[in-house]
Amino acid sequence: MYGLEGRRAIVTGAAYGIGRGIASRLVAEGCDVGLFDLDLAAAERVAAELSTSGRRIVVAAGDVSSKAEVEAGMGKLLAGLGGGADILVNNAGICRIGRLLEMPESDWRATFGTNVDGLFYATRAVVPGMVERRSGVVVNLASWMGKSGVEAYGAYCASKFAVVALTQSLALELGEHGVRVNAVAPGLVVQTKMRDESEEKRRREGLPLAEERAKAIPLRRAAIPDDIAKAVAFLASDQAAYITGETLNVTGGIWND
Ligand SMILES: NC(=O)c1ccc[n+]([C@@H]2O[C@H](COP(=O)([O-])OP(=O)(O)OC[C@H]3O[C@@H](n4cnc5c(N)ncnc54)[C@H](O)[C@@H]3O)[C@@H](O)[C@H]2O)c1
Repeated sequence: MYGLEGRRAIVTGAAYGIGRGIASRLVAEGCDVGLFDLDLAAAERVAAELSTSGRRIVVAAGDVSSKAEVEAGMGKLLAGLGGGADILVNNAGICRIGRLLEMPESDWRATFGTNVDGLFYATRAVVPGMVERRSGVVVNLASWMGKSGVEAYGAYCASKFAVVALTQSLALELGEHGVRVNAVAPGLVVQTKMRDESEEKRRREGLPLAEERAKAIPLRRAAIPDDIAKAVAFLASDQAAYITGETLNVTGGIWND
């Protein structure tokens, strides 16, 4: 346990995959949690599941790439959590595969809209309250692809490099206000919608699939969402009280740039 009992957390993209895993882990750690997602029905299913814990679970639907939807949704979650949040996890993200010279511009825009603008809007909606209370933690979802360029993942890589840069810059701006900002950089994570969609595309293109790629990972397996969630819980906790601006690799030992 990481000592998060009684903290209030907001997780974006909490209806599936890693975000859902993070929400579950934070609830198991004793947090009240606000779930923000595009997919209201799926987020409500997760909320119903997590509510059996007795913790307060609130849901807001919205698109993180829309400033208006983020402001409205975060307003609802902050109110539902009793007027503030101690932890913000910027997890919502998408991955559009395509070579940079060929990919539709709409894929480029959507990637930056969700992965970069989304983080910017959610942070600006939630962090001012933390600054006021001189206490809070932000954890962003980067990727090993935010540390290294990858063929056919250029837009995604660029958006995740931006997440690492925003993590470092925000940490510098917010440290004196008592707010820490870190990121996790997962490697290959299965049991997520993103992975299922990208596996489907890789299968069609005859590229090696997750099972095959996992053989090259020193720990000899892909991550599951809870592997990432535990790292998020650690960074959100006082155990990481002197860590800020860091992007922590959670890759099983591979892609550790
Ligand atoms: N799966 C992996 O291998 C992997 C590896 C490294 C990093 N990541 C990162 O982890 C994060 C979570 O990825 P995942 O694999 O769980 O993906 P996922 O597709 O399984 O889940 C993403 C969640 O975000 C929501 N979402 C997507 N766009 C949104 C938007 N515009 N507004 C609000 N909600 C939105 C989806 O509805 C879904 O619930 C992402 O930032 C991703 O880039 C994933």
